[in-house]
Amino acid sequence: DRIDWKPDAVELGGHAHYMLKEIREQPETVTDACRGRLIRAEGTAHFGGLNLSPRQLRRVRRVVFAACGTSWHAAMVGEYLIERLADLPVEVEYASEFRYRNAPLDDRTLVFVLSQSGETADTLGALREARRRGHPTLAIVNTVGSTIAREADGGIYLHAGPEVGVASTKAFSAQVVVLAMLALHLGRLRHLSFPDGMAVLEAIESVPALMGEVLKTEAKIDEAAALMTQARNALYLGRDIHFPVALEGALKLKEISYLHAEGYPTAEMKHGPIALVDRETPCVFVAPKGSLHAKTLSNVEEVKARHGTIIGVGTEGDEGLASLSDIFLPIPEAPEVIQPLLAVVPLQLLAYHVARRRGCDIDKPRNLAKSVTVE
Ligand code: G6P
Repeated sequence: DRIDWKPDAVELGGHAHYMLKEIREQPETVTDACRGRLIRAEGTAHFGGLNLSPRQLRRVRRVVFAACGTSWHAAMVGEYLIERLADLPVEVEYASEFRYRNAPLDDRTLVFVLSQSGETADTLGALREARRRGHPTLAIVNTVGSTIAREADGGIYLHAGPEVGVASTKAFSAQVVVLAMLALHLGRLRHLSFPDGMAVLEAIESVPALMGEVLKTEAKIDEAAALMTQARNALYLGRDIHFPVALEGALKLKEISYLHAEGYPTAEMKHGPIALVDRETPCVFVAPKGSLHAKTLSNVEEVKARHGTIIGVGTEGDEGLASLSDIFLPIPEAPEVIQPLLAVVPLQLLAYHVARRRGCDIDKPRNLAKSVTVE
């Protein structure tokens, strides 16, 4: 009832764990996910398998994403991207809830299910329910020929290659970059101009090299991991497009290091989670420079005043955040739409190194399976 990749079929290639290998290969993962899909002449992205014409896609008035776990977090990044670039309302549902809920959806709702494995029972259930109700239902999937890929009306493959580590990393990045391209595609069918589309396209093209820069900071990330190894709780905070990144960072830590971690929207901290903050509680702020940066810094100060350990993930050269942080983890300057792809990398490595320092079984965390084919 549970299936796993056969690790023997994939080489470790000198890396200590599959998870580490998969984190480090993300620049190539993103390149592979984008191959042949970015169309410079039109300032847009193109997908071969959506099986919906531009006319049908223009009629869409609402998008619903259904997914589980890390795929659900990727879908949340997609929500911000599609709302921003394509001006379409998006809802993100846990597949396990969506399949049994009676959410009213009109006939101009397009449903996407996201699943790395293409076999997750809850996500398959959501797909079948959406199709039963007559919604065009597309799948964003990694595993070619998987059940979800076969049953959907069309979709997009991630081309991420097999992911062996139970904690998903490179599949998340592939999902997010595919969603960025989807947002670009939907935006260019609507109001997004050629130059604005080109700017997004060029930002997407720059991701692999920028991710490579982030990967070079692994030693610094390991220093941050040393600060967290003895903790019992950690908070991950981010706002806007970085809120789902914070959720994903917290999930990675929970999954492989067994430390309790919660992700919250940064400004929501004062409505409860701040009560948890003391000297023993690391707070990871995902705060690259953007429109809400000044507000975030005042939230960081509130944690500082309560003596919490601060790990700041921010834009290189951000003296404000760096001076408030016990450890500052830089990512390169980049447009907001691609920042999640850069900011998630230090969080993946942070979880990895905390788990390694705690002696955990990183590629096979207790109680978890790569793909859960039961409800
Ligand atoms: C399991 C895995 C998670 C994964 C989730 C959804 O719980 O342990 O890492 O995010 O399933 O998997 P999917 O294959 O549908 O993306």
